[in-house]
Amino acid sequence: MNPPINVVILAAGQGKRMNSDLPKVLHSLGGLPLLSHVLAAANTLNPKSICIVHGHGGQQIKERFSDAEVFWAEQKDQLGTGHAVIQALPFLDAHSSTLVLCGDVPLIQATTLDRLIRAAANGVGVLTMSLAKPGGYGRIVRTNGRVVKIVEEKDATPKEREICEVNTGVIIAPTENLKRWLAALNPANAQGEYYLTDIIKHAVSDGFEIRTAQPDNEFEILGVNTRSQLAQLEASRRHQHAQKLMDDGTTLADPNRIDIRGSLKCGRDCVIDIDCIFEGEVVLGDRVYVGPYSILRDVRINDGSRIEAYCHIQDAELGRNCRIGPYARVRPGTELADEVHLGNFVEVKASKIGAGTKANHLSYLGDSVIGKNVNVGAGTITCNYDGANKHRTIIEDDVFIGSDTQLVAPVRVGRGATLGAGTTLTHDAPDGKLTLSRAKQMTSAKWSRPVKER
Ligand code: UD1
Ligand code: CA
Repeated sequence: MNPPINVVILAAGQGKRMNSDLPKVLHSLGGLPLLSHVLAAANTLNPKSICIVHGHGGQQIKERFSDAEVFWAEQKDQLGTGHAVIQALPFLDAHSSTLVLCGDVPLIQATTLDRLIRAAANGVGVLTMSLAKPGGYGRIVRTNGRVVKIVEEKDATPKEREICEVNTGVIIAPTENLKRWLAALNPANAQGEYYLTDIIKHAVSDGFEIRTAQPDNEFEILGVNTRSQLAQLEASRRHQHAQKLMDDGTTLADPNRIDIRGSLKCGRDCVIDIDCIFEGEVVLGDRVYVGPYSILRDVRINDGSRIEAYCHIQDAELGRNCRIGPYARVRPGTELADEVHLGNFVEVKASKIGAGTKANHLSYLGDSVIGKNVNVGAGTITCNYDGANKHRTIIEDDVFIGSDTQLVAPVRVGRGATLGAGTTLTHDAPDGKLTLSRAKQMTSAKWSRPVKER
């Protein structure tokens, strides 16, 4: 267990190149703002405190993260990364180390941060990486293998620019020393900024040995400056998720064609066809099949169920061995027991459906409680809304509902009842009986089909 630390997240940059009214760190990656990812990584470290340095769009960021247990430090003018950290100093516990992260580098992994903290061992640590194309990054300058300073690309000599080891921007230092080193910064450099990176040479002259650690993946250190980079990171995230799912025993028809905007947990031997979107928290049991082009959001699906193509399922729990779709819509508040079948163009909302019940074609079931082994005929509609209020429909076990039936709620259909096709049910139907409402069929002997006048 590492000792508790302070975390500072830099998020005052304007993000000009996003060409957006939305502050950069609020742009969405995997369904969550960039900043959420960094916060989540920071929180795994059990930090003493987290301080977010904001500038542009600060109000909007604060509102979006009003639930987060963090301190907010404002940086009115963006005078550099060192200046940004100075704004956070009043919120930091002086006796713990401070780890600096960037709000626009979203895929940094908790394991990597943990590795850096261990490497730093209460001293100074820098997360570095050797890149084939180090252009744009600060370079790690070493003498006899020891880090002596970080030089920004714009201040670097041609020789220094050849260095491939770069500063990822993630730095940890003991807070009391950090304060002193920050106070000594000056903006006499190519960009006229207070560089956080300049603390390294102060630390070295104070006798600190600078420790370094490296991330496992390059995507962890990539920042978002443009929408194109955002899309690339989305792809990295997708790839990482897809890989993990496959490693853990899920078949993906095409790992490049799955979108996971949140978390997806799968049991064993699930199969997911192409172009499905998973949002929020989705949990699949064992042997669940999800057909192509389906969208699942905050859903739990138990073992052996099959979701055929083009289904849309949200805020619902499905039992075992259900058969859903193609083209079914399961809306919030739906609970399906085992072996429920919902076929094409069936919409279910806020309803509980018992085991073995089937609604195979073209139905709307809303605000209803439906028992076991009910057969819902094609075109059945619960008329749950009277224009002002919603009402419940109760259908007990073993009911058979003929096609094109309307159940005008509130209404109850007793156990084992049968409703004739075309019924408009406005009063409760008793147990075990046939109930139907139907105009009497007639045939006119006198009628003939009209013909067009000449
Ligand atoms: C910085 C590092 C560089 C490193 C690179 C990694 C410095 C001087 N340089 O460069 O060595 O290789 O990150 O990506 O630290 N920010 C503020 N306030 C400011 C300036 C920046 O909050 O006044 C925030 C930005 O929003 C961003 C982060 O700090 O989240 C880094 O700023 P950025 O301008 O991207 O840093 P670089 O100059 O690229
Ligand atoms: Ca009718």
